[in-house]
Amino acid sequence: MALLEISGIGRRFGAVEALNAIDLSVEEGEVFGLIGPNGSGKTTLFNVLTGVYPPSAGEIRLDGAPIGGVRPERIAGMGLARTFQNLRLVPHMSAFDNVWLAQHRRPGMGMRDILAVGGRKERARRDEVEALLEQTGLAARRDTFAGDLPLPDQRRLEIARALVRQPRLLLLDEPAGGMTPLETREMADLIRTVAAPGRTLIVIEHKMDLIAEICDRLCVLDFGRKIAEGPPGRVLSDPKVLDVYLGREDGDD
Ligand SMILES: Nc1ncnc2c1ncn2[C@@H]1O[C@H](COP(=O)(O)OP(=O)(O)OP(=O)(O)O)[C@@H](O)[C@H]1O
Ligand SMILES: [Mg+2]
Repeated sequence: MALLEISGIGRRFGAVEALNAIDLSVEEGEVFGLIGPNGSGKTTLFNVLTGVYPPSAGEIRLDGAPIGGVRPERIAGMGLARTFQNLRLVPHMSAFDNVWLAQHRRPGMGMRDILAVGGRKERARRDEVEALLEQTGLAARRDTFAGDLPLPDQRRLEIARALVRQPRLLLLDEPAGGMTPLETREMADLIRTVAAPGRTLIVIEHKMDLIAEICDRLCVLDFGRKIAEGPPGRVLSDPKVLDVYLGREDGDD
């Protein structure tokens, strides 16, 4: 059984069919790429998967359990975490505190645990946050306000906030959005270390070199429909996919 099974998912916003009859399955341990032109439904798929919007049609199963229309907190508690295309950091809090606060979405942990001070458990959780800041390259900036960090570090901080929830499935929405080629390379390295312990990832990105480098498989959306799926080499040379990208200018964000 695949970790994530999506069948016949649709989502309408008034007259707009943002997602139309999407079938997709993502295996445990895969890095799966989700690409497509602006407005093709990529972020909407993340919103439906994380419970922000219920699907208008279809079924979603995470490790066999139906999650379509389930509340976001419950889905997060089942091991699904995401980052946001438009970052959701707390600007007037340090990098450390941003990650620390994100722990309350972790399975089995509430605000009470976050606010409890002292003791061995708190020490262990602090060590874990420090380790995540180290992994995401933010250790030297742990005390900097999130709002004062440069964009690449803010995107890294979003990833640290998602990782502290110890997700089985992590959704990254344009992790290299607005980054230079060098910053994009560094992000690709980080994503590989995040995926290394066998974690399952779905990555939305417009930067095809990053997608081709890190993804095992890809799916391409166009006007809410899936138009191609498979290994990057094949998908990125598919005439249908080239047709969608050629002559349509895509931004990075
Ligand atoms: N909350 C909403 N209300 C109304 N329409 C929406 C809403 N969310 C998304 N849409 C519409 O659904 C379509 C898909 O949008 P979505 O944000 O999923 O695209 P995307 O593939 O993530 O694009 P981008 O690459 O620009 O981020 C668009 O036509 C968008 O305007
Ligand atoms: Mg989007």
